[in-house]
Amino acid sequence: MAPKIFLTGGTGYIGGSVLHTIVTSHPKYEVTALLRKEPEAFASTYPNVKVIKGDYDSSDIISEEASKADVVVHNGDSDHEPSLKAIIAGLLKRQTSSFLLHLSGTGIVSDWDTPTYLGKLNPKIWSDTTDLAEISSLPDHALHRNTEKILNDTIAQHSDQINIAIMCPPDIYGKGKGLAKTWSAFIPMFVQECKNLEVAGFYYGEGTNTRSWVHIDDLMTVYLKVVEAAAAGGGGFDWGKEGYYFAGTQEVSHIDIARATDAILKKHNFVEGSELAQVSLDQIDTMAAYVPRFPNLGRYLFASNSRTRPHRAEKLWGYKGTAPRLLDVLEEEVLDAVKRVQG
Ligand SMILES: NC(=O)c1ccc[n+]([C@@H]2O[C@H](COP(=O)([O-])OP(=O)(O)OC[C@H]3O[C@@H](n4cnc5c(N)ncnc54)[C@H](OP(=O)(O)O)[C@@H]3O)[C@@H](O)[C@H]2O)c1
Repeated sequence: MAPKIFLTGGTGYIGGSVLHTIVTSHPKYEVTALLRKEPEAFASTYPNVKVIKGDYDSSDIISEEASKADVVVHNGDSDHEPSLKAIIAGLLKRQTSSFLLHLSGTGIVSDWDTPTYLGKLNPKIWSDTTDLAEISSLPDHALHRNTEKILNDTIAQHSDQINIAIMCPPDIYGKGKGLAKTWSAFIPMFVQECKNLEVAGFYYGEGTNTRSWVHIDDLMTVYLKVVEAAAAGGGGFDWGKEGYYFAGTQEVSHIDIARATDAILKKHNFVEGSELAQVSLDQIDTMAAYVPRFPNLGRYLFASNSRTRPHRAEKLWGYKGTAPRLLDVLEEEVLDAVKRVQG
């Protein structure tokens, strides 16, 4: 029998890419997608995907659909507790065990709250095989910690019923594969702040703070492997306490992104003659303020380190990125971001 997949966030950058990847790689899987707004071309592009209308607060609908699924792939909002709880409640109603892939993010290991390393390289590199005890005891204010705690509790109580994989990508670049949002977060947000400051690039401190990155195409190979393993019954893969998947293929310092963006914006005459700006922490703290849920988003995005290694995927199938590297395609990313920056 074809595995039944229930997917959320299918119009988003990551979720839309995951949906497209699953449907095109495995047309026989029975896929149901929760959508609050169905893109015009959805039915014609994905004629075999069943659409369920609802949002992440439609707990009854989510729970019902999860109870029918062999595999739930939850994307879209890594911090939304009611939707995650509804999925878990639904999966616990099943007679047979099931799989849940939950999208988290390496923001959880960012050092935005450690003044010593703001704007400086932090030597700490996180492993998804040897650092799991430390990750599962991070403080409550760590990004995405609220939902990872729910997942950790579920693993402790119900690992016989629900096999959980926490998918934890770093910053992502590259064009998404879905029908609606196809762009990522960091580069558009950086370009927006450059525009607000009327500069072509900025950094805090030394600017040597460094983050891991993955191209969306490489990330999709990780998703596909884990979804396929779940659909086949989970054998040979890691779930529950060990089911934690980083995906980064490279790391880039903030100052390198700032310098490269500066060169691109000048090359295309979007700015003239401005110097790379060294900004203050007060300025950083006013950035990305349009995301009220996380008041320190500016520090996280532009001043922190988040360095991770995908040791689990390397161990399981020799994962290595094959897509172009960030700095090689940054021009495309920046020009695309320029088109959508505000005011
Ligand atoms: N992009 C990155 O670099 C990155 C890296 C690591 C982790 N993450 C995390 O991954 C998550 C998704 O990121 P993304 O870049 O894919 O975001 P995105 O492109 O904005 O996608 C969000 C998706 O979730 C859906 N959604 C959000 N809230 C919803 C709600 N209340 N009810 C129903 N649907 C809802 C959206 O539906 P609509 O189309 O209807 O709005 C859309 O399909 C975020 O929490 C982010 O922090 C992102």
